[in-house]
Amino acid sequence: MKGIILAGGTGSRLWPITHATSKQLLPVWDKPMVFYPLSTLMLAGIRDILIITAKGQVDAFVGLLGDGKQFGINLSYVEQDAPNGIAEALLIGREFLNGGPCALILGDNLFHGDNLGDRLRGAAKRHTGATVFVHAVRDPERYGVMAFDPDGLPLDIIEKPSNPPSNLAVTGLYFFDATAPDRVADLQPSIRGELEITDLNRSYLEDRKLTVEMLGRGCAWLDTGTPASLLQAAQFVYSVEERQGLKIGSPEETAWRLGWIDRDALTRSAGFSAASDYGRYLNDMANSSEFLTVSALSGVPTLEMSVPSDPTGMVFNAQSQEITRRTGHD
Ligand code: DAU
Repeated sequence: MKGIILAGGTGSRLWPITHATSKQLLPVWDKPMVFYPLSTLMLAGIRDILIITAKGQVDAFVGLLGDGKQFGINLSYVEQDAPNGIAEALLIGREFLNGGPCALILGDNLFHGDNLGDRLRGAAKRHTGATVFVHAVRDPERYGVMAFDPDGLPLDIIEKPSNPPSNLAVTGLYFFDATAPDRVADLQPSIRGELEITDLNRSYLEDRKLTVEMLGRGCAWLDTGTPASLLQAAQFVYSVEERQGLKIGSPEETAWRLGWIDRDALTRSAGFSAASDYGRYLNDMANSSEFLTVSALSGVPTLEMSVPSDPTGMVFNAQSQEITRRTGHD
């Protein structure tokens, strides 16, 4: 499956910060915003990704992400002439998709939580219909909102309703089958002049081909479109990273844990940012003989020991003692 990151728009709610740069290149704590949706697509197992930027912004994204080889993926880029709607991404990406299914993610959406990888890989396996993820929010009127019938089945999706039918917002991550570009071609622009993603999702719902997955409270979904939500997202990432000593939204780490890059590639990436905490984190990971893998048990990370090359066995001994001390078991 291929992926699209929609990273255009004017960022008008963040002016003047976005006067001379793309919103999706702004920092969310310790890394650029686009790293988060990029890592999310990678977590879904997607390695062929098109990044759609606003007019005149491709060079800045290429400067940051290049061709993606450092993450073990292929990145391509295209500009959107004007913000004509989220669903237009499927028309712009039609040639790239080449008749196949895709995942589309908004460049300002941040997902984090246990089990997320499993959920995403599950959705990526469905090649018919569409999948959306809903999440509870305090201010549903800001989003596309899911309405349910009395039996709890999805009934409708309403874009920015003044009277929200539920508190479940449709998040900015969508999995579509191969029919999506044709469906968008049949849509009419809304009164605000946009090809609405909600209209595309509704077309799947009307055909009974929409799967609605709930992201529970163990999952965080943040968007970063206003100064307040940008700060909130940064604080969230800061708090979790400081507490756990593990980073959120690092494409290098995702690639490493999925086995898409080798130790040399990880070390090279670490070298580029050696002076930063981010670089040190990658470097520590590259030098560690512990390897946290994506576990077969969903949501449970597995700690694997790798046998070190030190012929004296000292490294191995030291490490097994460390694990004994931490777990309290021999
Ligand atoms: O964040 C999830 C929400 O995203 C959904 O619940 C809504 O159904 C969906 O319409 C969308 O609402 P927003 O109000 O957040 O849409 P916005 O116009 O702000 O666009 C979201 C991102 O997509 C933003 O970073 C800019 C980018 N974008 C948007 C449009 C309309 C583009 O790159 N091109 C566009 O043409």
